[in-house]
Amino acid sequence: MIDSRISAIINFVPENSRVADIGADHGYLAIELAQSGRASFVVASDKNQGPLDAAKKNIAAAGLQNIIEARLGDGLQVLREGEVDTICIAGMGGALIVEILAAAPEILAGTENLILQPMNASDKVRAWLSANDLFHQTALAEVAGIIYEIISAAKIPATSTPKSSALAEKFTAQKISKLEKILAEMSKSTAAVQTPKFAQLQAELVRLKDSLKQQ
Ligand SMILES: C[S@@+](CC[C@H](N)C(=O)[O-])C[C@H]1O[C@@H](n2cnc3c(N)ncnc32)[C@H](O)[C@@H]1O
Repeated sequence: MIDSRISAIINFVPENSRVADIGADHGYLAIELAQSGRASFVVASDKNQGPLDAAKKNIAAAGLQNIIEARLGDGLQVLREGEVDTICIAGMGGALIVEILAAAPEILAGTENLILQPMNASDKVRAWLSANDLFHQTALAEVAGIIYEIISAAKIPATSTPKSSALAEKFTAQKISKLEKILAEMSKSTAAVQTPKFAQLQAELVRLKDSLKQQ
């Protein structure tokens, strides 16, 4: 099913790309990449047989077996060097995404674009990208009230950057509200209030409130 999260991922994929969709599950992203013409070739991989079988079924139903190759395997190990120019990893935790990227430097060396949609720990993903000299930008997409971060990274800086939007404000407001709840909960314990974590979260709250004023 195509929703604004998948559309936002696809928007970052250059025309006529050779794409890997790692952790393809049902294969919706891979299928949309092929059907939209964004990708001329797609590797749709999954570590688990069940999801891969679901992807294979959907790929066959869409008649796209000549464009999409389904492969079983862990992370980027399913790819040969230089086989794709764009790698998408969506719907996984940020720590797992970093683990997958860090495990295959030789594959990354030959890849031009990374499009990552972590379900959490997006700052960890951005920190890893920066530490590995990759420029990155983040877009937001909302589906059923949940706001997703889609991070596009490359060795050269992007010519356009995503504009600040009402969705960006809503996302910051959601983060502020979550943080306020955590701090209120911690405030009930004298020991918790004295921890470095409490001070760190308070500082983060101030930073977010400032950034909301500037949006
Ligand atoms: C929640 S689904 C996300 C599906 C799809 N990418 C999306 O964003 O809608 C995560 C998928 O990643 C697969 N997965 C988890 N760890 C993986 C790994 N190390 N390598 C490849 N696939 C993995 C899981 O089996 C599952 O099908």
